[in-house]
Amino acid sequence: MHVFNQVQPLKEYLHKHRCKGQGIGFVPTMGALHDGHISLMQRSIVENDISVCSIYVNPTQFNDKADLEKYPRTLERDIEKLDKIGCNAVFCPEDSEIYIQKPNLSFNFHHLEGVMEGKHRKGHFNGVGIVVSKLLNIVNPDKAYFGQKDLQQFVIIKNLVEDLSFDVELVCAPIIRENDGLAMSSRNVRLNDMERKEAVKLYEALLLAKESLKQGKSVTETKNDISRLFLANDIVKLEYFEVVDANSLQEIETIVHNQKISLCIAAFVGNVRLIDNVFLFD
Ligand code: PAF
Repeated sequence: MHVFNQVQPLKEYLHKHRCKGQGIGFVPTMGALHDGHISLMQRSIVENDISVCSIYVNPTQFNDKADLEKYPRTLERDIEKLDKIGCNAVFCPEDSEIYIQKPNLSFNFHHLEGVMEGKHRKGHFNGVGIVVSKLLNIVNPDKAYFGQKDLQQFVIIKNLVEDLSFDVELVCAPIIRENDGLAMSSRNVRLNDMERKEAVKLYEALLLAKESLKQGKSVTETKNDISRLFLANDIVKLEYFEVVDANSLQEIETIVHNQKISLCIAAFVGNVRLIDNVFLFD
């Protein structure tokens, strides 16, 4: 497996493969790789001739300096994992390689970022938009893989790719869960034992809400139930629970069958902020 820290040698390597007519798959990550990332990589390896993973903790998408500092970094272990599964190339640049200058450009995804993550993490999707654009331009993949756990991120990237005519096919892969149902996340390693046990309550709340809505409970009542569920919890502090259209991300008041609807949740478990989502109709 090739490990690149710089843009130019990576581009030259990929150019050689592209000239041979080989297809390139790309999995952008911030490292601290877990089985969710590995499943994206494995899918890329099956579907493409050459698979590239980027590992870059992008500072411009963190609205909280402490969150950026505490973000887990396990580069050596990540590289070992990628090598073992047959990834062809890893790109792990320094900040100076990605941000030669402070970007003049900024993204506004309007209604798509006015809800959920965008509402609670100001500037987050501007940072995501900038780094994903840069990475897509550097790697120029045929296919790029993202996880459904970051549903809002995926929808925003899909719109970014459409708006700016990036020549790439996007794949959104299902959430990979721990045995108890907790969605895999790089942030999970920061949970202590007690928090880890409580963290599954996010998924349990989603399942409860899904069942209620399917049985005909209104969206308002369901939202109230979910808020109440966490009121007396000292460890899990609910930030939001939303019922949204999975494409427009706008809140839904009435359930319409056959509409693609997502139930989305975010909460602080101790000091660790976690998100999760499920589709209402599978
Ligand atoms: O989902 C992530 O890990 C990041 O937001 C991404 C897409 C790699 C951009 O930094």
